[in-house]
Amino acid sequence: MVGRVAIGPVVASMLALLAFGGCGGQNDLGAPDDPRASKDSDHANTERVRIGFLVKQPEESWFQQEWRFAQKAADKYGFDLIKIGATDGEKVLAAIDNLAAQNARGFVICTPDVRLGPAIMAKANANSMKVFSVDDQFVGPEGAFMDVPYMGISARAIGESVGRTLAAEFKRRGWPIEETAAAGITFDELDTAHERTEGAIAGLAAAGFPADRIFTAPERTSDTEGSFNAAGTLLTQHPEVKRWLVFSMNDEGVMGAVRAMEGRGFTANTVAGVGIGGSTCLTEFEKATPSGFYATCLISPLRHGYETTELLYKWIHDGVVPPKDTRTQGMIITRENYKQVMSEQGLLDDPGRAP
Ligand code: GLA
Repeated sequence: MVGRVAIGPVVASMLALLAFGGCGGQNDLGAPDDPRASKDSDHANTERVRIGFLVKQPEESWFQQEWRFAQKAADKYGFDLIKIGATDGEKVLAAIDNLAAQNARGFVICTPDVRLGPAIMAKANANSMKVFSVDDQFVGPEGAFMDVPYMGISARAIGESVGRTLAAEFKRRGWPIEETAAAGITFDELDTAHERTEGAIAGLAAAGFPADRIFTAPERTSDTEGSFNAAGTLLTQHPEVKRWLVFSMNDEGVMGAVRAMEGRGFTANTVAGVGIGGSTCLTEFEKATPSGFYATCLISPLRHGYETTELLYKWIHDGVVPPKDTRTQGMIITRENYKQVMSEQGLLDDPGRAP
C-alpha cells in the first residue's frame, strides 16, 4: 500500500518534494526512528546471534549500501552479520547451507530469482532459520507472492513520479513533440521492475505525453550493460528521434541508456533520464558538466538494509514478529539538491547523522 500521510521532519525536504514531485506520495523516505534512540537489548548470558544478508548483485551500489546499513544494525544490537553475494540459485542454496553450518538463525535476502522462493523457504525451514525478503518478493509455484515478511519500494507510485518528472522536464525544455520520444528500458520478469516502468508510462500519459511517443525495450540483465544493449537496439529502430526522455527500473537502467545515447551524439541538451535509486547515479551528479542523467527517485537503502536486519534480529532474539509487507517511499532528487536531501535522510557518509 502506498502511504499517503505527509509527515516529514525536514522542511527543506518538503520544499524539495514540492519542487520536484515526490516519488510515492510522502515527503521523506520514512527513515526509521533514530536507531540510536532504541533500547539496547540485554544480551547478558545469551548466545550471540548470527544473521546472513544475501544479495543478488553484490557489485551494485544499492546492495552495497544495504549491507552498509545492515552492518550498522549489527553493530548497534551486537550480533554477527554475514554478507553473501548470491548471484544465482545454486549460490543461494549453498549460502544457506553455509549459514546453517555457522549456526546462523536467519537471513535477509534479495534473491537473484523470485521463483526460488519455495526452495529458499524449504531449506531455511529445514534449518530452523527465519527469512526476511527485501527488494524482490518471492513468488510461489502458482505465481502468487509468498507469505514471507517483505520490504520493497512503492514501485508503482515511484514509477508514476518518474513519469511526471520526465513530462515536466519535457515541457520545461520546450522540446517539440515530433522530435521527442520516451525510451523505457524494461525488465518485466520482475514484478517490482514491471510496476516501476508501467508507473512511469502512466505518469507520462497522465501529464499529457502521447502514448505513441513512448517506446520500450527489454533488457536481458538489470544492470548498466543490459540497458546499454537494449537502448542500442531502440536507437537503431528510431533514428528519427532527436530528443529522448529515459526511464527504467533503476539508476543502472537509465545510465546504460544514457551512455548508449552519448555514443550516438546525444548530450545533456537532448537527453533527460530519470532513474530510481540514488546510489549509482551519484557519479553522474558529481560530474562537473551535467550528463543526460537528469534526476533520480531517491529510495532508502537505510530502511532496506538497517530496518530489515533490525526486524529480523528482533524476531529471532525477542520473538517480535515483523510486519508482513512494508513499502517504502522515495523522493525525486537532481544534481542541484542531492547532497542536501541525502544528508537529511542519513544517506551520506556523515557519522554524525547516519545511524
Ligand atoms: C531491485 C533492483 C535494485 C533496486 C531494488 C530496490 O532489487 O534490482 O536495483 O532498485 O529493487 O528495492
